[in-house]
Amino acid sequence: MVMHNVAIDTPREINIGLLGCGFMGKCHTNAYKKIPYIYPAAKVAPRLKVLCDQNAAIVEREAARYGFEEYCTDWKELVADARIDVFDNCGPDPVHPEPCIAALKNGKHVICEKPMAIRVEDARRMRAAAAAATGMAMCTFNYRFMPAVRFAKDLIAAGRIGAIHHIRVHYLQMAGHDPSLPPDKVWYSRWPFSGGLQGIGSHAIDQCRFLVGEIKSVSALVRTFNKDRAIPSAGCPADVVSDEGAAAILDFENGAIGVVESSVVATGRKNFLGWEINGSHGSLHWDLEHPNSLFACLAGVGGDDSLLGFTEISVTESGHPYVGDWWPQGHNIGWEHAQIIEKFHFLDAVANNKPLCPFNATFEDGYRVAVIIDAMRRSSRTGQRTDIQY
Ligand SMILES: NC(=O)c1ccc[n+]([C@@H]2O[C@H](COP(=O)([O-])OP(=O)(O)OC[C@H]3O[C@@H](n4cnc5c(N)ncnc54)[C@H](O)[C@@H]3O)[C@@H](O)[C@H]2O)c1
Repeated sequence: MVMHNVAIDTPREINIGLLGCGFMGKCHTNAYKKIPYIYPAAKVAPRLKVLCDQNAAIVEREAARYGFEEYCTDWKELVADARIDVFDNCGPDPVHPEPCIAALKNGKHVICEKPMAIRVEDARRMRAAAAAATGMAMCTFNYRFMPAVRFAKDLIAAGRIGAIHHIRVHYLQMAGHDPSLPPDKVWYSRWPFSGGLQGIGSHAIDQCRFLVGEIKSVSALVRTFNKDRAIPSAGCPADVVSDEGAAAILDFENGAIGVVESSVVATGRKNFLGWEINGSHGSLHWDLEHPNSLFACLAGVGGDDSLLGFTEISVTESGHPYVGDWWPQGHNIGWEHAQIIEKFHFLDAVANNKPLCPFNATFEDGYRVAVIIDAMRRSSRTGQRTDIQY
């Protein structure tokens, strides 16, 4: 056996303190482990320092399994730990505001899972904390980092589809389609349940803002179809309901019309995010079930309409956004990779003093999505079109 004898520049170590070792805790940890060897030139080395979870029975086991050096069960201990550079909040939705605000006050860089906060007042406090902080703050709208989504954004910015007239976005899942399931098994949250609009609608709204621009007003229906689910959680009022489906018409500042729809009772749909954008000179279509394909109709004015239609572009060329660091053309990448790419861009910004905007979603973006969701809820209650005011 021959030992390698290659000198590798010392990368900048970034100590990670991660809250929550469930689905997202595993997903973010996976990203940190892969970043050093996928992105060697950036010289960023996330170090899995402390894993925190209130569940003492699993946090010790998961810390050992994931490779964290230490673990704890109290997030206050984690955000006060002077060794931690990046606090990563993968806790349930109600556990986002206080730990993130405390971590920012303690000078940490912060990653917070979406939705940033259930209540718009909390999202406003988080935005203010981020604005006053020395650290960077990201809300994880990870679909921004699918190469086909970013490629679409670049085509739009280059004027390739002209002025945008329409966007139709949907995010459909079926986790709640069985009405006998209790809310805990349906939503991405424990009590107080944030609902499907916060859980997945937030991603769809972020795609609207990311690709088309700011929204002026909304007219929405937000509905709970199964009002009598069992309510098992302690402290949860018997009459609590969380939304299962939402639809809204969006009026954009640039004159575009949007339709956004989210559902957690879309029977048969496992994780179906997708959109179509129609512009004066072309159209774009993408969905998560075909994550590497951007369907594009380009240069549609003044030519031969008989040849117009959608072309499937395999967004797997090394020159396509984010792809060059991964595999050769045609070797697909997916949901997991966008999570890794997103975390890399955040750590690269932290380590190498680069800006987060315009591609990483910031706490300003998380706040704006919370404002839009709040406006959709009010519009549904009142039956009125509702202005967006930040
Ligand atoms: N970006 C995405 O695509 C995506 C996908 C799924 C979930 N999410 C979001 O990620 C977050 C986490 O979701 P998940 O599916 O990983 O949840 P999960 O239930 O699988 O994991 C949450 C973990 O947090 C722990 N926890 C709860 N309260 C705590 C507290 N006060 N202190 C310490 N630990 C606590 C729980 O014990 C659990 O291990 C949610 O905000 C959710 O909306 C994002």
